[in-house]
Amino acid sequence: MDRRPIGMFDSGFGGLTVARAVIDLLPEEDLVYLGDTARYPYGARPIEQVREFSLEIGRFLVNTFDIKVLVVACNTATAAALEDLREVLQIPVVGVIEPGVRSVLGASDSGHVGVIGTVATMNSGAYQSAMLHADPLIDLTTCACPGFVEFVERGTTEGPQVEVLAERLLTPVIEAGIDTLLLGCTHYPFLARTISQVMGPAVLLVSSAEETAFALADDLAESVLAHPDQVRIGSHQFISSGDVRAFAAVGSRLLGPELVNAERWNPHAT
Ligand code: DGL
Repeated sequence: MDRRPIGMFDSGFGGLTVARAVIDLLPEEDLVYLGDTARYPYGARPIEQVREFSLEIGRFLVNTFDIKVLVVACNTATAAALEDLREVLQIPVVGVIEPGVRSVLGASDSGHVGVIGTVATMNSGAYQSAMLHADPLIDLTTCACPGFVEFVERGTTEGPQVEVLAERLLTPVIEAGIDTLLLGCTHYPFLARTISQVMGPAVLLVSSAEETAFALADDLAESVLAHPDQVRIGSHQFISSGDVRAFAAVGSRLLGPELVNAERWNPHAT
C-alpha cells in the first residue's frame, strides 16, 4: 500500500489518451503527467536522443515527485528506453508496446494486422519483434505516419488537411487487407475519426491505452503499491516543458476536466 503518485510522460499530448484510461480505471491514484512539448516530435529524432530525454524525465519525476511507478505513455520512448528506465530508476516502469500488441492480437480474427506509428518507432523494429514474439504466425504490415503528431499538438484533430495526409500515408495498410489496425502512437487516437474513415468500416482500430491501464493496475497490485484508500478521488498534476497556457488550453480539450492548469519544467538536454 503506497500513497505516492504515479508518474507518466509523453512528448506532448499523446499520453493523455493513456492518462484518460488510467484516471478512469484507478480514480483513487494521484497522477503527475509530463508533456515534453518543447521537444516534440520525438518520432523524428534519433533513438539515442529520445533515450536521453526519457532518462532525464524519468529521473526528474522520481527525484521531484517521488513517483512509485512510471508509465511511459509514448511508443517512441518505450521503443527507445524502456529497459534503460527499468534499470536506472529502480521502480516499476510500464511501457505501451506490449499492451498494444495484446490489444491488436486480442481483437483480430484473421491474423492480418497493421501497426502505424512514428518513424522512430517503426524503424526501431520494436513492434515487429514484440508481435512476432507474441504470435510467430501473425501477418503484420507496418507504416510510419510522419505529420500526424504535429496536427494533434496544434490541437487539430480533424479537417481536410488531416484527411489528405491520412489518405496518402495509410495506403500500405489499406492495401494489405488487414482486419485490425493498432494506433501505435499515443497521439493517434485523437485522429481516430479520420483514420477510421480512411481505413473503411471493415477495419477495427485499437489503441494501447486501456491495456496499458490494466497492466499498470496489475503491476500496482503485484508490487503492493496501490493506494490504500480505494474510495478517494486522486489529484492530477500536469507539467509541460513548453508553453503552459497552451498546454492547459489544448490539453483540457483533449483529456477532459482533470486538466485545469499546467506547470513549467525546463529540460537540460536539447
Ligand atoms: N506519442 C508519441 C508516441 O507514442 C509520439 C511521439 C512524437 O513523435 O512526438 O510515439
